[in-house]
Amino acid sequence: MNIVIAKDYSEMSRIAANEFAHAIHANPSCVMGLATGSTPIGMYECLVEEFRAGTLNFSYSTTFNLDEYCGIAPTDPNSYRYFMDENLFSHINIQPQNIHLPNGNASDLEKECLSYEDAIAIADGIDIQLLGLGNNGHIGFNEPACSFPVTTHVVDLAQSTIEANSRFFETSSDVPRQAITMGIGTIMKARKIVLLASGDGKADIVKRAFFGPVTPEVPASVLQLHRDVTVIVDDSAATKLD
Ligand code: GLP
Repeated sequence: MNIVIAKDYSEMSRIAANEFAHAIHANPSCVMGLATGSTPIGMYECLVEEFRAGTLNFSYSTTFNLDEYCGIAPTDPNSYRYFMDENLFSHINIQPQNIHLPNGNASDLEKECLSYEDAIAIADGIDIQLLGLGNNGHIGFNEPACSFPVTTHVVDLAQSTIEANSRFFETSSDVPRQAITMGIGTIMKARKIVLLASGDGKADIVKRAFFGPVTPEVPASVLQLHRDVTVIVDDSAATKLD
């Protein structure tokens, strides 16, 4: 595991964008796993800048997002599809048919999970996966549990996640109670993983996840077992590290 401590959010975002730009330059048809949340916004801005500067071409790339809320439409401003359109997809030349997010509005959610997992396999898996880190150690929406969920599945969100994500909704009762998320097994199959954490609110969980025991109670700790993980933190998320 490679841990990079950036001097601030902007440097963290630039380093992460470089990892993705490098992956696209090495293989223009690379398959990227993408994440939502506040943390990756700066990285997406850097990628958009590079596209506008003519140094990055997404026309052969494929993306699979980690997760999506259940029961909200892709046009809802709180959906992850909307977030991705706003922060990345509408600004770059990715082909719409190459963009994938789970459909949280599917009539048969279990079937949707199976098809999402199949679509990733048909694309020959994920070359580079971006992750954020929940305050409770979740990755995607894999919440603390007594075992690691393997494949894409429907999850009941933890109360701490509902509270953390309520900042995006009018009230916490508007936050969906369920989501579809890639499983820990899906994430661990990615050939390369880049995890970002920013701010002092993440300092404790960064230490527990990457310097504590591997346990499903801290889902991100499983990344210690992956052979190509780069954790990029800014200075405030690194304050609890020796
Ligand atoms: C959500 C997402 C996660 C993300 C987490 C942290 O719950 N499902 O993928 O990593 O939030 O978000 P933030 O970057 O806003 O702290």
